[in-house]
Amino acid sequence: MQRGQFNSKAGFIMAAAGAAVGLGNVWGFPTQVASNGGGAFVLVYLLLAFCLAYPALMAELIIGRSARANAVTALPMLTDKPQLKVGGRIVGIAGLVTVAVILSFYAIIAGWLIAFAIAPVTQFLGFNEAEKWLTTFSLSRNVAFTFFFMVLTIIIISQGISNGIERWSKRMMPALIVILIALIAYMLTLPNALVGLEHYLKPDFSQIFNSQLIISAMGQAFFSLSLGVGCMLIYGSYLSSDENIVKAGAWVTLLDVGLAFIAGLLIIPSMYIASHFGVEIFDAEGALLSSDTLIFQILPALFEQMGSAGPIVALLFFLLMSLAALTSSISLLEVPVAYVVEAHDKKRHITSWVIGGLITLLSLIIVFNFDWLFGLVIAITTKYSQPLLGLFFCVYAGWVWQRNNALQEIKKGFEDAENSFFWKIWPWYVKFVCPLFIIIMFIHAL
Ligand code: PHE
Repeated sequence: MQRGQFNSKAGFIMAAAGAAVGLGNVWGFPTQVASNGGGAFVLVYLLLAFCLAYPALMAELIIGRSARANAVTALPMLTDKPQLKVGGRIVGIAGLVTVAVILSFYAIIAGWLIAFAIAPVTQFLGFNEAEKWLTTFSLSRNVAFTFFFMVLTIIIISQGISNGIERWSKRMMPALIVILIALIAYMLTLPNALVGLEHYLKPDFSQIFNSQLIISAMGQAFFSLSLGVGCMLIYGSYLSSDENIVKAGAWVTLLDVGLAFIAGLLIIPSMYIASHFGVEIFDAEGALLSSDTLIFQILPALFEQMGSAGPIVALLFFLLMSLAALTSSISLLEVPVAYVVEAHDKKRHITSWVIGGLITLLSLIIVFNFDWLFGLVIAITTKYSQPLLGLFFCVYAGWVWQRNNALQEIKKGFEDAENSFFWKIWPWYVKFVCPLFIIIMFIHAL
């Protein structure tokens, strides 16, 4: 069977940046900034994203393109030693499980976003009951929209690489950037926006070595670049050998980090604008209120204050969030689907529906046990599983794989790779710096 491939470098960059840019950027990053001392977090995050996450991203992309396979198949291919082959398989499978769990909570949040995007329309049409249902936490709404979002994800993935992922990412990513910039331009004209901007851009240097802040920034960087779960590995495996993989990876990192930064320009000032309008944004201890309250209470309260512009801004805002979530959720579903299609020789269409269906079931289990399960699965997957698996990917790229094989792969679309700055630094980096940093952070956290 012929393997799918992205048609162009731009297509790859849009798809991989689409995978990376998601709730982690437009929701996770601004929230973390808000609860971790503003500008200090921004600074540490930027450093870690380029110095730690980019090398780890390159490890996945290069292994993927070289093996032209999913992570479960690719990691064992890097070595002849039987034990290391088994180890590689285990890491790949752990990635599959993690990705399925991430998608199952991701779909719940994305479902809320879609419900909030539809709400202004029902409000405009005068369907007040419907609007209330859409914006109030309830079992029926959560079930309905988790389901709806999963179906959208499954439909795109069932259409394949260039027809599904690439085509839809190329449509959704530019739309996302346009909406984001339009919203920022509007928000910055509102009162108190500049106070928020200052909080965002002015680092409090005393916070920079705060280990809690560094651990949060590391987890955020791994989540945001979709690392450790074989997602970037599989996207790398669809990249043509003629392309310069070092540059393509740098573009993806730049877009991901750039969009997180820009999303912060929207969200942090919005909080301060909301506070100007009398919406409560600080808790009793004076800390900024956190995640779900931010997006689903503070911002809607702000939109309500905006008069007739409110529903339009709300619609655009939640549409933006939903698009970002969808380009990421397709990458999450692609990981297990690609594995089953390749390793078990199954048809993509039916596999997408079966695996997507199973993950929907998992989502529903979380919805029905929301109180104790939701936060738990988020913490386990993003705080522990992803960085830990990212560590193993670096170890396989740096210690298990022959250095020369990695070089040959990079050279395919980048002849002069051997003399490049990248090659002087990267092998040493994935071998020592990335694993050591992750291990130290883990020991510290425990
Ligand atoms: N990077 C995505 C985001 O920022 C989430 C994600 C994690 C996607 C892991 C794929 C794999 O929202």
